Amino acid sequence: MEILVAQTAAIGQLGGELIARQLRSKPDSILGLATGSTPIPFYKEWISLVGRGELSFARARSFNLDEYAGLPRAHSQSYWTFMQENLLRHIDLRVSATEIPNGEAADLQAECVRYDRTLESAGGIDWQLLGIGHNGHIGFNEPGPSLTAGTHVVELAEETRQANSRFFDSLDDVPRQAITVGMGTILKAREIVLVAQGEGKAEIVAQALTGPVMTELPASFLQLHAKVTVVLDEAAASKL
Ligand code: GLP
Repeated sequence: MEILVAQTAAIGQLGGELIARQLRSKPDSILGLATGSTPIPFYKEWISLVGRGELSFARARSFNLDEYAGLPRAHSQSYWTFMQENLLRHIDLRVSATEIPNGEAADLQAECVRYDRTLESAGGIDWQLLGIGHNGHIGFNEPGPSLTAGTHVVELAEETRQANSRFFDSLDDVPRQAITVGMGTILKAREIVLVAQGEGKAEIVAQALTGPVMTELPASFLQLHAKVTVVLDEAAASKL
């Protein structure tokens, strides 16, 4: 595991260097993309690199980690909307080459099966971007007595709903379920980049990277992966 610590303002630039390296070595990479506030500096930098003609996603494909269940795709807080606004609309990744779980599907289980099949037939994830929840979740793989390998429907932990309620009018408006790719899918990615910023993440980052590997802290499983790069600002690294 390689840990890179940068000043908060330099996180985006690091994100630009990491994706440029990946797409240079494999222009048709299958990228695993994430939502949340953490990847935004990465996405801003990618957009400006594409705008300057220094980076192209034209041959890449992307699979997002997760989506709320029951939220219309066009809802301002759906992850579909997040991805359009913060990245996809602004870069040259083909619309037909981007996949986000469909949280509006009438049959959510069937949607999970479809997502896994699509991902598998694409050849799996080459480069997976991850944030980390305050409770150690990755994607929406929540802490618990067990973890699930494939894409599945998850009941969101109360602390996750509370953390994400800042984006909704009230806690009641935060969906109770989501679709997430599973831990098996994440850990099969050929390379993983985990990003965390801010003092609020320092404790969980230290536990995930240096504590015991346990299902109660899903991000701790990243310790078992052969190629993980962790990008932290100084505050998020302060308890390591
Ligand atoms: C959400 C997402 C995760 C994300 C996490 C942290 O619940 N499902 O993929 O990593 O929250 O979000 P933030 O980066 O805003 O702290």
